[in-house]
Amino acid sequence: MAAENNNQVTNLPEGLVACSPASFVAVQMALKAAIELNVFNIMAESGPLATQLSALQIASKIPTANTKAVTSLHRILRFLSVNSFLTTSLPLDSDREEDRLFGLTAMTASMLVSNAGTSMPFLFLLNTEKAEFESLDKLKNFVLDPDGATCPFEMAQGRPDSRLSKMFGQTMGISNKMFFDKMMMVYGGFSEVEELMDVGGNEGSTRFNILSHLNHVAGDMFETLPNSKTILLKWILHNWTDEKCVKLLQNCWRALPQAGVKVIVLEMVAMYTVTLDFAMLTKCGGKERTISELRGLALAAGFSNVNIFPTGNNGIHVLEFLKSSE
Ligand SMILES: C[S@@+](CC[C@H](N)C(=O)[O-])C[C@H]1O[C@@H](n2cnc3c(N)ncnc32)[C@H](O)[C@@H]1O
Repeated sequence: MAAENNNQVTNLPEGLVACSPASFVAVQMALKAAIELNVFNIMAESGPLATQLSALQIASKIPTANTKAVTSLHRILRFLSVNSFLTTSLPLDSDREEDRLFGLTAMTASMLVSNAGTSMPFLFLLNTEKAEFESLDKLKNFVLDPDGATCPFEMAQGRPDSRLSKMFGQTMGISNKMFFDKMMMVYGGFSEVEELMDVGGNEGSTRFNILSHLNHVAGDMFETLPNSKTILLKWILHNWTDEKCVKLLQNCWRALPQAGVKVIVLEMVAMYTVTLDFAMLTKCGGKERTISELRGLALAAGFSNVNIFPTGNNGIHVLEFLKSSE
């Protein structure tokens, strides 16, 4: 039976050193194993946040024929608890390590339980793919590369394969819902749009909550784009170098049929997004930009004006790049 946490509180078992930088990858991989073994979901389904379970109780809900599963799981959970990803305690009437109980922290419950509505478990699994580690292992070579490679991922892997792309699409799809709900509270510009063309859309995931008449455009956005009165670029510019962005924006400018119409750009802006910027550096050779850098790209591509709408959510901004006359 799951226990309410009225036990002896021993969050950091004596003698263990938590959070050593040399263990960061080990912590990440222990979290990955816990996600894959459904541990956080099992904990969340067992009761309120303070509920704690033993490894035996958790392992009883994980299908396996391995007789050593409980002890291995116990050691993984204990490792996660000393690194502050789980709470832990011993029942008052026990000093036996195998009786140790584990529970979710508020942070783990909100980020790593899959029905909490966050994309983090998917992002986590994506970022712990072998291909990601192999790319990050090239960081030093990337800095020193005499040929100026685009990014460590390209050095290690070339292009993402279809499995990675699918995982990425799934992650983006889930984050879109939260992202759009918050954005629509601040930006009303979609209500006056007659047609909206989604360039670089991800399996149509940007269709969430915007407009029923959003068109997802196929084909290479760096070649040519069909005409549309409004174009959506959501989380596209940060994937690319300045040169590629200007080329894409010039294509968008040409695809806008008349003066007074616009490209709607959704981006996080630099300094709010140092972690995402690091991901762009390593995965695709793009970067997070400041407002003035984004405005500079718009003007370089021929747009006459830029309207800016901060959403107040993690540095996410809506920018309108306006076309005047030819
Ligand atoms: C960061 S994702 C953003 C996806 C989507 N806008 C969203 O926010 O969910 C970048 C997208 O650009 C697409 N993409 C990459 N190169 C492209 C190209 N040359 N032409 C069209 N789309 C491209 C990828 O397939 C991917 O779906």
